Amino acid sequence: MGKTGFSLVLALALVTLSTSSQEKCILSGTWRNELGSNMTISAVNEAGQFSGLYHTDVSTTGKQILVSPMKGSQQVDNQEQPIFGFTVTWLVSDSTTVFVGQCFVDDQGKETLQTMWLLREKVKSAEDNWKATTVGTNVFTRIK
Ligand code: BTN
Repeated sequence: MGKTGFSLVLALALVTLSTSSQEKCILSGTWRNELGSNMTISAVNEAGQFSGLYHTDVSTTGKQILVSPMKGSQQVDNQEQPIFGFTVTWLVSDSTTVFVGQCFVDDQGKETLQTMWLLREKVKSAEDNWKATTVGTNVFTRIK
């Protein structure tokens, strides 16, 4: 192989190495969002399912905020930046929040969970259904 051929092979190897070395975004761990809420996600099983605990720092009820259980799942099979969803069933109120999002990892290996949520609150009757659901976004960063 000539000098040019060798340089080409080397360049190709370097490009392959740099593009395939993106870190995996892992959901397990403890995360905090911009509202100051924390959540801890347990190990994700082979089917992509996980459970955890969510401690919200804000609430619509004004009641004392307790830790509530959450359950979710993520896309599996070699996903570097997986999509996921989870549900929090609030213990302090009759409400439930569903989150959907994606786990991103940047060039420095910093992970963020970019999410969108729907919070469903209980209303007295079907006439009040129009005001029962709110929508928002949260960005989580890893704290553990
Ligand atoms: C309630 O107020 O009925 C229960 C607590 C809801 C907390 C919401 S869920 C979406 C948003 N993100 C948070 O971390 N907390 C609020």
